[in-house]
Amino acid sequence: MSTETILAPSLLSADFGKLAQELADLELAGLSWIHLDVMDGAFVPNITFGPPVIKALRAESGLFFDTHLMVDRPERYIDEFVDAGSDLICVHAEASLHLERLVSRIAEAGVLPAAALNPATPLEAVRYLLPQLHMVLIMSVNPGFGGQKFIPFCLDKIRELKIMIRAAGARTLIQVDGGVDPENCREIVKAGADILVSGSAFFNHPPYAERLKTFERAWRG
Ligand code: DX5
Ligand code: ZN
Repeated sequence: MSTETILAPSLLSADFGKLAQELADLELAGLSWIHLDVMDGAFVPNITFGPPVIKALRAESGLFFDTHLMVDRPERYIDEFVDAGSDLICVHAEASLHLERLVSRIAEAGVLPAAALNPATPLEAVRYLLPQLHMVLIMSVNPGFGGQKFIPFCLDKIRELKIMIRAAGARTLIQVDGGVDPENCREIVKAGADILVSGSAFFNHPPYAERLKTFERAWRG
């Protein structure tokens, strides 16, 4: 098990009325990543925020900006999300016909490229891209909303992806997003996850430094 597991709180469950303060509180609590869920009302049935909000927060925060684009044809917006200050841009394999081109373009822009897979999407969608991908995001709920239940078959998918990454000789990180909480995070990390996203199970239980410790204790066992 990795000792460098990262917890990436999802901004989706933060208080939207005081986002800059929320990010400052996360940094003070010892978090290093923030997961930014961008939803367009087309790829997923919900709308959140876009580049202007990310850009405004970038000016206020030193956190690692992990931008998860739940957006149809994300190639239309890559430049905006690069300019907004994303450190990593994660696009859905289901949302783009030319995933290799998109991943290369993100990397050429100097941002870390990642690809996300919905629960029912096979790992084959990313197999040949693993050497180019900084991270693969295994969605463990159907994207669109916070507070959903972790889909158990995703544990097998994480294990299989780990094997695929090793076989490819790649160093791709595995992120898991959806329904992650202190009760299931040990099993998820044991399956091979490097980065855990948590929205509701994190933000609904302040203070954040304590909540981070609760997660860390849980995955270390
Ligand atoms: C789901 C989003 C997730 C979500 C996770 O569409 O991609 O990042 O915010 O929230 P929880 O942890 O509440 O499932
Ligand atoms: Zn997400």
